[in-house]
Amino acid sequence: DQEKKYRMREAHRIVADLYHEVMLQTAAGDSGREYLEQRGIQESAMREFKLGYAPDQERFTVDSLARRNFDLDEMVEAGLISVGRDGDYRDRFNGRVVFPISDRDGTIIGFSGRSIDGRDPKYVNTAETPLFNKSELLFGFAQARGAMRKSKQVVLVEGNLDVVRVAQAGIPYTVASLGTALTPVHAQNLARIVDEVIVCYDGDKAGRAATLKALRLLEDVAVDCSVIRLPDGEDPDSFIGTQSEETFLRLVEQERISGLEFKSFYFRQGKNLRLEGERVRYIETMLEEIGRTTNPLLRDIYLGKLAEEFHLSKESLLSQVKPLPTQHA
Ligand code: GTP
Ligand code: MN
Ligand code: MN
Ligand code: MN
Ligand code: MN
Repeated sequence: DQEKKYRMREAHRIVADLYHEVMLQTAAGDSGREYLEQRGIQESAMREFKLGYAPDQERFTVDSLARRNFDLDEMVEAGLISVGRDGDYRDRFNGRVVFPISDRDGTIIGFSGRSIDGRDPKYVNTAETPLFNKSELLFGFAQARGAMRKSKQVVLVEGNLDVVRVAQAGIPYTVASLGTALTPVHAQNLARIVDEVIVCYDGDKAGRAATLKALRLLEDVAVDCSVIRLPDGEDPDSFIGTQSEETFLRLVEQERISGLEFKSFYFRQGKNLRLEGERVRYIETMLEEIGRTTNPLLRDIYLGKLAEEFHLSKESLLSQVKPLPTQHA
């Protein structure tokens, strides 16, 4: 009910403030702060995203909430603490750097905690709770909202650290889905605000497969898409670290490719286009992808490219593409 949700939000606000203060103002937070500094995160970004450190104690959060008279079973339900085998309440994010996760209005409703000492799992995230619905939330959305409205663009990355590092590099309109695939709800929420989604997932097999899936969802909500292809093994954060912020900005501003061009790379992988069978399959796949594209100019450009590369007539290719849906007024 509403009052319960209100208390849960209040508890998140208090706990986020505590973790943040611990990290920036106490010795107990030194290891968390040093970890983030060593990962290239500046203090201004720690404040902007209200990053924090959950002390490596079993009951720091439990005691803090109990002292303020919160009902601990309700706090378990909110995902802020957990219950051990013995029935004792205990902390969930202890010994981790925490990234508060907000709803669109900027109200904190969950956390993502990263281990800083190699402890597994690497991330502990808030599970589904009355406040927290992973499939609708994007990390960084509240911080990015104004900049998204202004630029009409959003950069979509995989990880929390990528969001913080890219924002710090000068692209404040950056968000990440929370360690899960993009959902139709995410796609809709972005399409309502921006004209172009720039997908910048990790430069690995999983990242490329996730890019293709994201493109399909974004096409369904008819928003323009482009893709940044990162070198093998890099993500936005590591790329900025090994190259520079400027190089990353140049990638975004000058070297992003259309969704269709990404697909052309993607579907060529591992194919030998000199073999007729593989060539035909590639062309068929691309014709299908062109058919999913609602932008008439992009369709024309890619039909032209296909025709030229494989010495086919544009007219015959056109006849095999699903026509644009008729426009209604
Ligand atoms: P960092 O740069 O340290 O964040 O690691 P990474 O780049 O290897 O992260 P990766 O690309 O594997 O993960 C991207 C996002 O997926 C993270 O920001 C998390 O939200 C999520 N994720 C990664 N590992 C885990 C995990 O072990 N458990 C959960 N629940 N989520 C994870
Ligand atoms: Mn990884
Ligand atoms: Mn990854
Ligand atoms: Mn990554
Ligand atoms: Mn990373």
